[in-house]
Amino acid sequence: MLLLALPLAGAAAVAFLLFKFATVDGDLTLVSRGAPRREKVDGKVVWITGASRGIGEVLAMQFAALGAKLILSARNREELERVKHKIINKHPDSRVEVLPMDLSSGEESLKEHVHAAESLFSNAGVDYMIHNAAFERPKRRVLEETEKGLKATFDVNVFGTITLTNLLAPSMMDRGMGHFVVMSSAAGKVPSPGQALYSASKHALNGYFASLRSELCTKGIKVTVVCPGPIETPQSSSATSSSQRPSSEKRVPVERCAELTIVAATHGLKEAWISYQPVLGVMYLVQYMPTVGLWLMDKIGAKRLDVAAKKGNAYSWNLLFGGKKSA
Ligand SMILES: NC(=O)c1ccc[n+]([C@@H]2O[C@H](COP(=O)([O-])OP(=O)(O)OC[C@H]3O[C@@H](n4cnc5c(N)ncnc54)[C@H](OP(=O)(O)O)[C@@H]3O)[C@@H](O)[C@H]2O)c1
Repeated sequence: MLLLALPLAGAAAVAFLLFKFATVDGDLTLVSRGAPRREKVDGKVVWITGASRGIGEVLAMQFAALGAKLILSARNREELERVKHKIINKHPDSRVEVLPMDLSSGEESLKEHVHAAESLFSNAGVDYMIHNAAFERPKRRVLEETEKGLKATFDVNVFGTITLTNLLAPSMMDRGMGHFVVMSSAAGKVPSPGQALYSASKHALNGYFASLRSELCTKGIKVTVVCPGPIETPQSSSATSSSQRPSSEKRVPVERCAELTIVAATHGLKEAWISYQPVLGVMYLVQYMPTVGLWLMDKIGAKRLDVAAKKGNAYSWNLLFGGKKSA
């Protein structure tokens, strides 16, 4: 009897794990961590870039609900004020400041913004820097990219973000603590055909922040790199706004993305992946079985652009298995 029960239990456990992996919306470490830890952010100063819409706006709402004091940045002051009022309407005790800023404005200008941010909330400094702002263009072929596009992408996603970090980290170290939460992307972990520059910029961030962490972790500096796959963001003006996206694309809701980001940060995870399948599976393959993962991506590459051009599902299983129909 026992001889029969053991294999059956084993098969049931494997079936459960496979089902879990097929339906999960984040990497297995992340989704095992439970809820955000309020005590890690309550009363802390959280500075969010790209807070005027999309993931940044929802992150701001959720950090406010956990008692954080917020500094909201992006270029558009009116949109930042809108987000501020939305937060205060929902959480009247919240403390929210708006600090308009262009990440591509250069070191001197960013230095002034860092001083301004540190002096808000009675010179409390900044506890969490949420690097969320990014520039992304519609999908196009790698050889269609121009130097102008390269500069526009890297000025915001890489140069601005890194310069801001270098300006902010010293005062965090003086206070013995500071946490950088970096919205990277699945495109920062795996090839992303049609998004070569965006992917390059996110790989650059991953490399920079992993290095920064290992240099500065003994000085109280923490880093959480978050790599989302496709996320359902309303009113996005990003490369693919919700109205332009094919309805067949399965995207993680923006509220869940923000929640998992805060889970990752407050549980001290160094890296977190947020996505449904098949993107999540490809991330696991490229990370742990790169020969297989990269071989699969080579099969997808050219097809993905054709599908995106026809407004089809650029994250479909059909791309992996050779089907032409994607939408
Ligand atoms: N949405 C997704 O499916 C997805 C997937 C993976 C990763 N991500 C990453 O998640 C983050 C947020 O994505 P999202 O979809 O919410 O983006 P989004 O809707 O396009 O919002 C981008 C934000 O960045 C700000 N921004 C753009 N250029 C800026 C500049 N030069 N200086 C300062 N702020 C600037 C924008 O505000 P202003 O225009 O007012 O400046 C806006 O608040 C990004 O890092 C993105 O790469 C998103």
